[in-house]
Amino acid sequence: MTTADRMKRTQDDSETREFGFETRAIHAGHRPDPTTGASAPPIYQTAGFVFEDTESAAAYFNLQEYGNIYSRIMNPTVAAFEERIANLEGGAGAVAFASGMAAQMATFYTLVQPGDHLVASQAVYGGTVTQLKHTLAKLSVDVTLVDPDDLSAWEAAIRPNTRACFGETIGNPGGNILDIAAVASVAHDHGIPLIVDNTFASPALCRPIEWGADIVLHSATKYIDGHGTSIGGVTIDSGAFNWSNGRFPAVAEPSAEYHGLAFHETFGVYGYLMKLRAETLRDLGAALSPFNAFLYTLGLETLPVRMERHVRNAMGVASFLEGHPMVERVRYAGLESSPYHALAQRYLPQGAGAVFAFDLKGGRTNGRAFIEALRLWSHLANVGDTKSLVIHPASTTHRQLNDEELASTGVAPGTIRLSVGHETLDDLIWDLENGLRAAQATQEKTQAAAHAANTTEPTEPTQVTL
Ligand SMILES: Cc1ncc(COP(=O)(O)O)c(C=O)c1O
Repeated sequence: MTTADRMKRTQDDSETREFGFETRAIHAGHRPDPTTGASAPPIYQTAGFVFEDTESAAAYFNLQEYGNIYSRIMNPTVAAFEERIANLEGGAGAVAFASGMAAQMATFYTLVQPGDHLVASQAVYGGTVTQLKHTLAKLSVDVTLVDPDDLSAWEAAIRPNTRACFGETIGNPGGNILDIAAVASVAHDHGIPLIVDNTFASPALCRPIEWGADIVLHSATKYIDGHGTSIGGVTIDSGAFNWSNGRFPAVAEPSAEYHGLAFHETFGVYGYLMKLRAETLRDLGAALSPFNAFLYTLGLETLPVRMERHVRNAMGVASFLEGHPMVERVRYAGLESSPYHALAQRYLPQGAGAVFAFDLKGGRTNGRAFIEALRLWSHLANVGDTKSLVIHPASTTHRQLNDEELASTGVAPGTIRLSVGHETLDDLIWDLENGLRAAQATQEKTQAAAHAANTTEPTEPTQVTL
């Protein structure tokens, strides 16, 4: 076959060929710049875009034609990232936001009206629990938190005014795995969507839409960025949910905020996304910066290889910890001992992620000693970095929760959360040994002090007989 024939065949096939995940991670959403030939996505660092004429400007503002208006609502660099992540998750499209929290808030906000209700897993990121229980309450939206493993609890919590079910693929920090297909089926039986935060799995390990989820969220700050440099978030819609089933006036009925436009009827599979962008992003204003979008597009290129390395190191670290006498339990679904192992094999066959928690013996004091003795692991409030990270949730990320809420998210006083990075596995284990030795020394001191207190119990004053 001549080169010309081979090229012709490639051109012919490329329309129909189903490219693999790794290929799409590198190529989806971006073609070389037609003006300059630049192969990396250009950073369009501009607030506004010059309109061709007044007619096309009006058509853009009326949403009759899709064109760039203003970077709070859309931007070509951000669009390249949105298209790539939507492709990788198997969605119809995506809208990016300034943070994961902003993506979540905007996603819920677009669905609800005052007086509505949501059902959510209780075993999710502490900041999410606060957003659900307290911030949404200010909009008169009530949220019922349920044990994510109990399907009858999801079912029982759904009311006529419930607008969505929500959970995390891999719970932060408890490492619980959501039975996505089963919860999606409960939600769909009631005509409501399942929204899944897929941050800890990333689309390289799990694609919730393939299991029946309707909307997928990410804190792009984590594995999508991959290097702990920039805050961002994104919402991906499958495009498959029927918003016109009578339960979603906020999406289906004519919008007073958009001169009577009925988003679902007008835009079909893009109806929810258009409302999310043209109304919610426009009005709440938490737009992703073009520079961060550029970094995320690059991040996605290496996501599949990075996740392979993450899960390999995570398995090594979890196996080491499981055998250590100072460790009460390791909550990693990749381990056979985990109650979530079977679910992980189903939903995460390439690995159960690299963020997980373990419980140190001796609780809070030992937790502090452990963290302070570490030299290589960074003590900080983030996950999903090439660098290995560690935190003590009870005193940091989950500090706003009361004791009852803390227990319900699966956090104990001695729980330590790890985000396993890409360093040499032996070095990571060497440093964990430093921490565990320090925790053991603290434990011994505490025990010696308790023993001394017991043996020096007040005794009867000695009687002196003369
Ligand atoms: C699972 C999960 N979802 C959402 C968020 C919020 O994301 P961001 O910090 O980008 O706002 C976090 C933050 O840690 C998280 O861990």
